[in-house]
Amino acid sequence: MLISNFIKEIDDDAFLLYQKISQGKMLRAKLVSKIAGDSEDSKKLSAVIEMIHTASLLHDDVIDESKTRRGVHSINALYGDKSAIMLGDILYSKGFLELLYFDKEIAKFISDAVCELSVGEMMDVNLSNEINLDKVKYFQMIYKKTSVLIEATAKSAAYLAKKDVISYGLYGKNLGLAFQVIDDVLDVTMSDEQLGKPSLADFKEGKTTLPYIYLFESLNDQDAQRLKSLYKKELTEDEKNWIKQKMRESGAILRAVEFAQKLGKEALKAIEVDKNDDLQRVITDMIERDF
Ligand code: FPP
Ligand code: MG
Repeated sequence: MLISNFIKEIDDDAFLLYQKISQGKMLRAKLVSKIAGDSEDSKKLSAVIEMIHTASLLHDDVIDESKTRRGVHSINALYGDKSAIMLGDILYSKGFLELLYFDKEIAKFISDAVCELSVGEMMDVNLSNEINLDKVKYFQMIYKKTSVLIEATAKSAAYLAKKDVISYGLYGKNLGLAFQVIDDVLDVTMSDEQLGKPSLADFKEGKTTLPYIYLFESLNDQDAQRLKSLYKKELTEDEKNWIKQKMRESGAILRAVEFAQKLGKEALKAIEVDKNDDLQRVITDMIERDF
């Protein structure tokens, strides 16, 4: 694959380390192919964006002190923080070098997005200092942390394919927001095995995601106090089950899923004139993951 060749060109040790990373869903690469087809340019764009995305996850696992990623040990868990950061730096800078191959417009979409996503990660860390019940702050943060790169992917692919950059950007933005909301729901509803990492990790890491914000809105004082007392705590099985039960009973999960569905509809509305069944399926598959 193109990414492997890019890294091999740089350094054998970096390539060996890169091979230890478990492959993800390649959502961004799929998006490029569904918008711009499978030309050499599309494949190169996909590789650049996936390299930058992988770099951001390598750094994120160091920041979040995550020991697992996609069901296997993270690079920081296996080889330490220093190796994870340096491999991230290699992927990130090679991605930027290869961006030179594209029109300035595409280079600008992607580099602006990377700057924003770094700000988003900073916001995520800062919001994790204490419980956040402000939905506006949550959406500002997930827009930057997750959606911005998906938006820039869709815009760049549309630019390559000479399609409408604004409409596809709106599609990508809403897809990215819905994606993160569903990710935050799955952290609550799925088992450790299904997730490939410990469930309910967000609240333990200090992240008050949308399901938690909705849950706090509906709990009585006593239950709200109990939930507050579990913030950033290593949870027992009983405590985990209590949170999962309250999330379902209160309708917090349903509300969050319905919000993601609304965002999905917005995404599809933006590109409805193009009638692209594949892009419709990207939205439904992403939202209808198991809860
Ligand atoms: C995952 O969030 C993190 C991101 C989507 C963005 C991380 C961004 C950076 C570290 C800054 C940019 C750095 C480079 C090198 C481009 P999460 O922790 O909520 O999700 P997770 O459960 O998958 O870890
Ligand atoms: Mg993380």
